[in-house]
Amino acid sequence: MSEDPNGGDGSTPRGQRELARDPSAGTSGLRFESHAEPSQAALEHGNTHLVERRHLRIGSGPRFNQLIEAENFVALTHLVTDLGSSVDVIYVDPPYNTGMQNLGYGDHALRAGADKHSRWLSFMEHRLVLSRQLLSARGVLYLHVDENEAAASTLLCREIFGENNVDVLIWPKTDPRFDQNRVEKPPRTIKLVHEYVVACFRDRDQVALNQVLRPVSRGSEWVEHPLELDSILSGWGTTSSAKDELADVFGDRYRFQTPKPMRLIKELVRAASGRESVVLDFFAGSGTTGHAVMDLNIEDQGERRFILVNNDEYGICRDITYERLARVMEREGYAESLKFLDVRIERKQPDGGTTGGG
Ligand SMILES: C[S@@+](CC[C@H](N)C(=O)[O-])C[C@H]1O[C@@H](n2cnc3c(N)ncnc32)[C@H](O)[C@@H]1O
Repeated sequence: MSEDPNGGDGSTPRGQRELARDPSAGTSGLRFESHAEPSQAALEHGNTHLVERRHLRIGSGPRFNQLIEAENFVALTHLVTDLGSSVDVIYVDPPYNTGMQNLGYGDHALRAGADKHSRWLSFMEHRLVLSRQLLSARGVLYLHVDENEAAASTLLCREIFGENNVDVLIWPKTDPRFDQNRVEKPPRTIKLVHEYVVACFRDRDQVALNQVLRPVSRGSEWVEHPLELDSILSGWGTTSSAKDELADVFGDRYRFQTPKPMRLIKELVRAASGRESVVLDFFAGSGTTGHAVMDLNIEDQGERRFILVNNDEYGICRDITYERLARVMEREGYAESLKFLDVRIERKQPDGGTTGGG
């Protein structure tokens, strides 16, 4: 019988052993099998370019937000070259690795078996390493996850950002104040009513967070108060109220299955940004982060810029992300401009030349 790092009899299923403690692992104790980055091939076999689709441009600048329809590893590789370490806030809400099939986009467990955790962790590691390079000295990355990958994500973030640069926040995803339209699902065993936001600092010593605005109860009223950001992200909406926000834009609560509430992201951005910061979300989904940045800009006359990335699966980027941004820009009269970009690949020829592709 081979020696089991769990101290057991060696019969631990493979998927669990990959995440087991191993004295030879990095400082956090996290060990997982590394998987190749699928989109690395696109970068190796051709020259990729981000190209603007001019017919989708909104507004005339001079300050342009960007929506990039691309596999986010490819987009991040370009952004690292183009922006260097200049991004103050990154908010990401990746697929949670639940294996659910009705989300309207691929969740990783669907494509993996016993190695589902290591596949997800490899996928995230590649993107978080590039994210850290993009962060400015004061930069903060918020990684939104649920119980499926919360523990492993926290360890992964400590490895990438350093033991001292990671905090774990809790987001209550239900709240009767917001949940008048909530559709209850029967709980599996224990009713899970919160998710996690892992906050990662490029360098905690250089971060001075701004106060956030939080509703505080005054008798029968709720009054907005400036307060320090603490680890319970309550009062800023729920999964149900995020669907109400979609209904407000599209007339359909289920236009996208897993939106986050705009106010939650707005307060996270408020805490970590200056008025001219660049804010990035490379799992853009329904575009909540763009909506939140534009709303915050209106409120404090800010000139923040957002860069959103979503791949082209199920037409989400054009039909939902772009469409929401376009609709709220018009409806709210946001004085913002937007460029829509996607990736063009020039395949390398054996003679060293290139040919254009789409
Ligand atoms: C959980 S949703 C994000 C929801 C978003 N926070 C919101 O409020 O609507 C994750 C999104 O990431 C996209 N996505 C998943 N893998 C991706 C990848 N490798 N590159 C780019 N986008 C990806 C999915 O299409 C989906 O829209």
